[in-house]
Amino acid sequence: MLKKKVEDICNRQVEREGYSSNLYLAMASWSEVNGLAGVAQWMYAQAEEEKLHMLKFIKYINERGSKAILPAFKKPPADFKNVEEMFKEVLKHEQFVTASINEIVAMTLTEKDFNTHNFLQWFVMEQVQEESSAQAIIDKLRLVGKNNLYQFDRDIMSLRAPDTNVQPVG
Ligand code: FEO
Repeated sequence: MLKKKVEDICNRQVEREGYSSNLYLAMASWSEVNGLAGVAQWMYAQAEEEKLHMLKFIKYINERGSKAILPAFKKPPADFKNVEEMFKEVLKHEQFVTASINEIVAMTLTEKDFNTHNFLQWFVMEQVQEESSAQAIIDKLRLVGKNNLYQFDRDIMSLRAPDTNVQPVG
């Protein structure tokens, strides 16, 4: 069984990964209604990945004899200023998630919970990839400029890193 502190912080991460999924769904929807089908596809795929991240935490908590709790999720924003600002928000959000994962890693060390520490290593690497992927898109957007969004939208899926998700445990 997980120590209560570790169980609670892992449940906090269930909420954060679930919110990430909803945030990217909101961004997908905004992109879709603004004629950016490629960006929408990228965001829908990202939302699916985040759902898998949430599932990994749920399965892990339960597998350790503790109890995963599904929270109420905060409503994500419905509107974004423009594509560049939206991707800046993606990067900012991923940096927040990285800090959150690192906080759990630090706790597993002080609590000497080496199983959870090991479980988290996949997320540590995933966050490196997620931040780098968001940054690469921001760089690309800067290069193509606002007048060539058509080409950017057409090509964005080729910027996706190969899917590193493995099926959740269980
Ligand atoms: Fe699951 Fe993008 O953090």
